[in-house]
Amino acid sequence: METRILPTDHPELLHGVVDEAVRLLAAGEVVALPTETVYGLAADALNAVAVAKIFAVKERPSFDPLIVHLPHKTDLDTVADIPEEIAAAVKRLIDRFWPGPLTLVLPKKSVVPDIVTAGLPTVAVRASSNLIFNRVARTLGRPLAAPSANHFGSLSPTSANAVMAELGGRIPLIVDGGACIHGLESTIVRVENVGESKPRFVILRPGPITPDDLKPFGRSFFPGRTKEHRRDVEAVSEGEPAMEAPGQLISHYAPHTPLRVLESPHDFSPEPGKRYALLSYCGDPEEGYLNLTDWVQTFVLSPGNGKMPEAAVRFFYALRELDSLGVDEIIAESIPERGLGIAMMDRLRKAAAKTHRA
Ligand code: TXA
Ligand code: MG
Repeated sequence: METRILPTDHPELLHGVVDEAVRLLAAGEVVALPTETVYGLAADALNAVAVAKIFAVKERPSFDPLIVHLPHKTDLDTVADIPEEIAAAVKRLIDRFWPGPLTLVLPKKSVVPDIVTAGLPTVAVRASSNLIFNRVARTLGRPLAAPSANHFGSLSPTSANAVMAELGGRIPLIVDGGACIHGLESTIVRVENVGESKPRFVILRPGPITPDDLKPFGRSFFPGRTKEHRRDVEAVSEGEPAMEAPGQLISHYAPHTPLRVLESPHDFSPEPGKRYALLSYCGDPEEGYLNLTDWVQTFVLSPGNGKMPEAAVRFFYALRELDSLGVDEIIAESIPERGLGIAMMDRLRKAAAKTHRA
């Protein structure tokens, strides 16, 4: 199949591209679209046959459910039943963070096909703030199921070229909306009423909306930090009960090159004859990583004092770049675990876990 990349960086172009994307989606096809987090591989969420194509194209196991993206944030009750005891908390979150990179897991309505939710009684929902994505969803007038537009388990794409590298030849259209402004997948949250004045937010996947952002609205709890909550993709087979948050699969977000995360430069001594690349947070010479070996390449996420949003925007691009070098191992410095650093460390640990399993 020929995959077209259509640019949108001119108002006259945008109109035709949106129409073409809508035409394909209405015909039950899949289309790669930009969002503010990463590129998504979209299909009509209410068309089970179209959604099945997403799983086929990504080679994604059927037990891993998709996120549903609403045309308008006010459409939430078309796909989800909001339990009375968390309704006020959900409304506060939506008022503050939608449209934007926050995904809420809520009981699903029967209109959502089981294939979307992998048979779970819940659906993950968000409303994207990307203007192109929204034009497409609103013109189509239906919610869009969209996982990240990469092969299952690979790095999420944050540019149209990265989607092409992942899925070129397998999909008809990539809408090029430029680089994604957040660069990390949405924060996934389950809201719980724990009988206190404020609700509890179970963070199923850390992302651009951080525990600090959520603090005014409730207490955050991140089970992904404890080992017993992580599950390996190979430990789960078809027929086993669907896992609650498959984003917890420990081998997600992985480059092909083995990756190791270092807590300190002292934890690394290069093996003779091996070629290494370094992923550095701010490239501080004092920290002692830059001179550890003769790196084939170093990629500094945010040179200087280190700014989390800058590092996040470049994060998946950097991993893709280092992955293309053909080195023996990518060495990643630890990123401070605050703010967006929590999400980046989550992705790095998952990438490293794949290496150690192999
Ligand atoms: O930013 C994003 O979230 C991007 C853009 C395209 O919107 N999408 C994305 O989708 O990252 P995906 O499929 O790559 O990751 C979605 C995660 C998966 O790990 C999935 O297991 C989890 O959301 N998920 C989906 N439905 C769920 C549910 N009902 N309960 C718990 N986790 C769920
Ligand atoms: Mg993904």
